[in-house]
Amino acid sequence: MDFELTEELEAVRGLARDVAQRELAPQAAELDRTERFPVESFQRLGELGLLGVNVPEHFGGSEMGVIALTVALEEVAAACASTAVTMSVTNMVGETICRFGNDEQKTRFVPGLTSGALVAGAFCLSEPGSGSDAAAMSTTARRDGDDYILNGTKAWITSGAHAGVLICMARTGAADAGHRGISAFLLEPGMAGFSTGKPEDKCGLRGSNTVSVILEDCRVPAANRLGEEGIGFGIAMTALDGGRITIGSMANGIARAAGEQAASYALERKQFGKPIAEFQAIQHKLADMATELEASRLLVRRAAWLKERATGSGQRFTRQAAMAKVYATENAKRATEEAVQILGGYGYTREYPVERYMRDARVTTIFEGTTEIQKIVIAREILKSIA
Ligand code: CAA
Repeated sequence: MDFELTEELEAVRGLARDVAQRELAPQAAELDRTERFPVESFQRLGELGLLGVNVPEHFGGSEMGVIALTVALEEVAAACASTAVTMSVTNMVGETICRFGNDEQKTRFVPGLTSGALVAGAFCLSEPGSGSDAAAMSTTARRDGDDYILNGTKAWITSGAHAGVLICMARTGAADAGHRGISAFLLEPGMAGFSTGKPEDKCGLRGSNTVSVILEDCRVPAANRLGEEGIGFGIAMTALDGGRITIGSMANGIARAAGEQAASYALERKQFGKPIAEFQAIQHKLADMATELEASRLLVRRAAWLKERATGSGQRFTRQAAMAKVYATENAKRATEEAVQILGGYGYTREYPVERYMRDARVTTIFEGTTEIQKIVIAREILKSIA
């Protein structure tokens, strides 16, 4: 067993850290304030191979693997979490098309995703009436000759108004067919009947775009169906197993930035005649933050390692992905709150970035499956393994 990053992974970390600190960190506060979606940043990340980190080179990816993706995402999230969530979902969409798409679909969509030409990928699963109970979706896809006609509304879609391709789950079977009646489709924004709602006015991740996707008799060629009819729910769950690992690494990046900011403030800030870093109350907080981050990182990297090892074998890493997500995201929530506490009144103002970290971290325990859903997933996997 070796806990060190390899030379290649160190190189990925260096590359991601460089672009994150030089180009993404300086604009993070402005994106948060103005809710600007930084199209140019995704072109830049595409140039550097960071939009298809675990995608084969043949389709424009950099084929650096799953652990590399977690390492890169932690760096980007430590600089700008809004950019990181867009990067995370785009990587997930590219990987999912590579895994379930046919050659024509991979050639048509994946190089554009990895280069940034399509700006971003989006993943349309949730609906206004179905979030945690994803199989209860009501969006329909009715076959009509060589096309499908899609009707319904998808909610909380990250990058929905900017994405060049969107994976969308819709019901092709009867409502009582449950998850077996769901299929996946590749939507393109120019399709007749496709529109997006107004951006959600969010508490955090304000430089990412979150909209509803509205499908009104949206005509989608059958050639855009991803996989066979009826396997859409499995495609979504498989994608989310990977996505949950990357959301875990994104949470680690935010927690790390919060810890670093809190530690440097504690060295500077003097009260009762000495830096507050000399008080045990503050030291305990810093120690807890560092220890929990280390534990989160190990969980995320192990889940990534299992996913990498499972590539091509169909083996599942569902339990470890859920554990990594729940632990890392709950930790990011705690760590960012503690950072605000250490900075006191200053931490509660926009003069320092920790209040933004706290707002950005908050949603990580909600999207890509809430903490409560992750615990259900973990418990089911445990019970299955001993049944
Ligand atoms: N991989 C592959 N297949 C899976 C799977 C997995 N991880 N988990 C379940 N399945 C399969 C099962 O094997 C089963 O198939 P069979 O009947 O053929 O065996 C089928 O899917 C149904 O499984 P369940 O009975 O477990 O399904 P369920 O209805 O009880 O739901 C759930 C399970 C875990 C609660 C699921 O609904 C879930 O994950 N909910 C949360 C949804 C979610 O994460 N939404 C996030 C939205 S996307 C987002 O946030 C992205 C973004 O933009 C940031």
